[in-house]
Amino acid sequence: MSTAVVPDAESSMPEERPAAAMPAAGPTDVPSPGLAAHFYLDDRIAGIEKDHIFARTWQLACHESDLVEVGSRILVQVAGREVMVVRTNDGLAAHLNVCRHRGARLIAGPEPDGKAIRCPYHGWTYHLDGSLVGAPEGKTIPCLDRPSLGLFPAKVESFLGFVFVNLDRNAEPLAHMLGDIAGMVGRYLGPELRPVGKYRIYDTDAEVQDANWKVIVDNYLEGYHVPVAHPGLMRLLDYQRYTVTTGEHYAYYEVPLRDKPSANLLERAYQRLAAPMPGLADTDKRMWRYLAIYPNTLIDFYPDHVLAWKIVPHETGTAALPGAFYARPGTSLRTRLAQRLNIKIGWITNDEDAELVARVQRGIATPGWGPGPLSRREAGVSWFADCIRRDVEPHLTDNEARGGAA
Ligand code: FES
Ligand SMILES: [Fe+2]
Repeated sequence: MSTAVVPDAESSMPEERPAAAMPAAGPTDVPSPGLAAHFYLDDRIAGIEKDHIFARTWQLACHESDLVEVGSRILVQVAGREVMVVRTNDGLAAHLNVCRHRGARLIAGPEPDGKAIRCPYHGWTYHLDGSLVGAPEGKTIPCLDRPSLGLFPAKVESFLGFVFVNLDRNAEPLAHMLGDIAGMVGRYLGPELRPVGKYRIYDTDAEVQDANWKVIVDNYLEGYHVPVAHPGLMRLLDYQRYTVTTGEHYAYYEVPLRDKPSANLLERAYQRLAAPMPGLADTDKRMWRYLAIYPNTLIDFYPDHVLAWKIVPHETGTAALPGAFYARPGTSLRTRLAQRLNIKIGWITNDEDAELVARVQRGIATPGWGPGPLSRREAGVSWFADCIRRDVEPHLTDNEARGGAA
């Protein structure tokens, strides 16, 4: 998977910032510092993130194409809970995957259809919307108050075809939070996208990398490492013309492909074949775009495919990277060939990044290390660090805030 990049302050391209823009740079345009080491190492901080970030933010669950039939359902892990996302007669619903009777797990994995949700233990049965239909031998249960015994709900929302869930019932709708994103990249997305290949966003056996989830997000948020660490990307992309736009909830990047043919055969073939999927604009033909939605959703937009993925904390020092490739219906043979080449290039970049993030995770554990100054090219890292500090620091003791032991 690939790397996003940040603006070149010296380039002729203006750096765009919407009105409600980034906390990353103040009036002097000095990027905020990166996170202190303990943010990436401390189990207590991981616990705070679980309760105050992952249990309160929109988490990517799947794509609408994963839930075709009424009754189809998938499972997604969110902040230590399993959430079931279900296609209902009216749209989508999300419930915690636990029976209201004696707590059995309701499903163990994705299911393609089903008229209702039936617990495999004693058979309590729920409508797809989560309300309790009834229990076997219901007359033997004196307190069976059906209206109060529906499944525990979570919020669910489809944003341009991608399905997100949120455990916070009062969460602001994602469409409000990301209003301007639809104008920037809406043409790439939609419920009609189809997956390319075997990967799915809800996979439970996704690649695990040896780094805290924030090290991996940080790496996505900057292109400063491209000239040194990604020779292939450097041959393909016009590094001097990376731009970034940050909003309150996202960072968005654009970078054009270079015209000069790459010396590498695979890359040169891609440069020749790159062609836009149906529905894209001429300006998309030779542009790569990246979007990071706070806290952990990443979407890459290529002329030939879209890659949606997320970084899911495992242990404090490891994270999983489930994701899936998508294309618009009617994509031509030429574009499908370009897509194959590009996905290959992406895996090479992904392997390079996996090594980099593991290297960082090892390095920052060195006692006495603290973050050095950031480049303007790392403005996205500053934005993310500010978001994390905003969400975590109010829950730290004074000693923890200074980096002391929990
Ligand atoms: S635990 Fe589900 S029916 Fe008993
Ligand atoms: Fe990278």
